[in-house]
Amino acid sequence: MSRPLLSALRRPLPHLSRPNPLSLRQPQISAIRHASTTPSTPRRFVSSTLFIAGGVLLIAYYYDSRSLLHEHVVMPLVRLGLDPEQGHKLAVRLLSLDKWARPRDIGVEDAGLQTELLGQKITNPVGIAAGFDKDADAIDGLFDLGFGYVEVGSVTPEPQSGNPKPRFFRLEEDAAAINRYGFNSLGHGHTLAKLRARLVAFAQSHPSLFPSPLPLNPLPPSGIPRSLRPGQLLAVNLGKNKVSAAESNEDYIKGVKLLGPYADVIVINVSSPNTPGLRALQGKEILKNLLSDVVNERNNLKNNDGLPKIAVKVASDLSEDELADVAYAVRSSGVEGVIVSNTTVRREELSLTSTKQNEVGGLSGKPLFPYALDSIKTLRPLLPPSIPLIGCGGVSTGEDALKMARAGASLVQLYTSFGYRGVGTPRLIKDEITSSLKTSQSRWLGEVGKDYSNGQMGWDENRLKRESENVRKEAESLGDLLRHISEKESMADLIGRAEAALGRKSSSAEQTQGDGARDNLAGSATGQVQGEDAAQGLVESGAGADVQRIQQPDSQVEQARLIDSAPSTTRPASSIQDALTSTPESIDLTPRVVVVEHPPIPEPRVEQGEDEWVQSVRSGQRRLV
Ligand SMILES: Cc1cc2nc3c(=O)[nH]c(=O)nc-3n(C[C@H](O)[C@H](O)[C@H](O)COP(=O)(O)O)c2cc1C
Repeated sequence: MSRPLLSALRRPLPHLSRPNPLSLRQPQISAIRHASTTPSTPRRFVSSTLFIAGGVLLIAYYYDSRSLLHEHVVMPLVRLGLDPEQGHKLAVRLLSLDKWARPRDIGVEDAGLQTELLGQKITNPVGIAAGFDKDADAIDGLFDLGFGYVEVGSVTPEPQSGNPKPRFFRLEEDAAAINRYGFNSLGHGHTLAKLRARLVAFAQSHPSLFPSPLPLNPLPPSGIPRSLRPGQLLAVNLGKNKVSAAESNEDYIKGVKLLGPYADVIVINVSSPNTPGLRALQGKEILKNLLSDVVNERNNLKNNDGLPKIAVKVASDLSEDELADVAYAVRSSGVEGVIVSNTTVRREELSLTSTKQNEVGGLSGKPLFPYALDSIKTLRPLLPPSIPLIGCGGVSTGEDALKMARAGASLVQLYTSFGYRGVGTPRLIKDEITSSLKTSQSRWLGEVGKDYSNGQMGWDENRLKRESENVRKEAESLGDLLRHISEKESMADLIGRAEAALGRKSSSAEQTQGDGARDNLAGSATGQVQGEDAAQGLVESGAGADVQRIQQPDSQVEQARLIDSAPSTTRPASSIQDALTSTPESIDLTPRVVVVEHPPIPEPRVEQGEDEWVQSVRSGQRRLV
């Protein structure tokens, strides 16, 4: 490029050239400031007032859990920006902040909302279900939102991380969620520390209720709920570690022992679908044993004043018969309450639209409601009214709560609707219940069990007795029939086996023993001693090598002896009766069975009056089949 051209390019263009901006900026700005401040002091006052008022309003909105800010601004933003598990964590963290920093229910409780549960009066019937505050971090935050009942957990004895992420899914189109957390828990130790810290803080502000000096680990004072709040209850929900033996009760027993003294209610969770084998604990006898063990452990707690009540939480996926088994286990174990229900593994019947519907795990929220309600309706008449039900599953409105109450639930719990609507949910639902109760001039307690005409929530002990007597009779006659059939079948089978053995043996030199067996079998046709003889024949009819020889006792109806020389899973027939009642499969006809030497075969006895058929059978000419 030529030198003149270069210098021309470096030279600023005349219309773009500017004076040094720094040299001009100060006077310009000061001029502007001067010009604007002096005459606008009132405007500035207005704007700062507006700013402060807006801040106060925002804070007021933030603190008041009812404000639309939470449901219509905060929650959509959370859903937009955070995945479900992150959102869940944030909510727990918010509610575990210091009192001054978290939202609360500032509404007034209507007297009509009062309910009774497990011998305690509660100011309102809306509770938070297990799974939201798994590690007891936000107990007071939840109570401050106006829940009458707070259930923490499920907590497992040892800390465990649960299933791999992602494990929590929103099904927004269905107002539902699916989770497969798999009992992620910080363990009993963490929950215990939280419960004790709460108690110590309470003791410091209420020193007169505790011994002085305050013990290191004080126990809750008698006469007040373990929630440490009048008219509200605290429940601890117990789960099992994944590595614990499926059939073991130990994890629950540990939880009762350690955490029982700090809870109004201990919930035995046997219904989470995300821990392998857990739901099998809902079977009749297994559940009865588990619950009886838990109740015994609770009764052994030292703090006799105000022992926690025990409730069991079941699934809504149980059939009517399975719910009847649960009712039986509850009645016969001394458990005081039942929560119906946990999440469901159903999918197809729910007519879901969300693309996440096929995620593995337990489904909660609106689609669960009819199933939970049905389970309540099935279970309620099978339990005496003294055993309350807690309804849970898809409750999202006051009307849902009232439907559960009429079906017999003394209290309802929710989780998923709280996840969607936010911190104002308990207040919204309580207000809806109140307005509905006012319209019908009723109270919550007046609604509980209203669907049943007998005033006992369908419970009729005599009917149950009559039904169980009928079932017993049916079982008895069925048992007789089965015994009869199995006697006949096993006899035919015994004979078949003995004959097969005899057939094999006939090729050997042990002909006599086989005949003895046949004799016995033939002898069995005479009726009276047939079973015993047949068993003896079977036991004696060994074949093959290693045959042992023992002397046949004189009587043909003598006790059979099975010499089991090798260790075996075969059950030795210790008596004829034993051999008879064994299933044929459990008697092994391999060479371990001995051959018995018989005394000479007696001449066939011909009794006076016996017909020809009997005689032919007795003499061995005819075979009994
Ligand atoms: C994310 C999540 C975690 C849960 N974890 C537990 C749990 O640890 N223990 C338990 O007993 N139930 C647990 N549940 C089940 C709830 O307590 C409740 O029974 C179920 O969600 C039905 O109520 P809902 O439809 O109001 O959510 C969980 C539910 C959800 C959504």
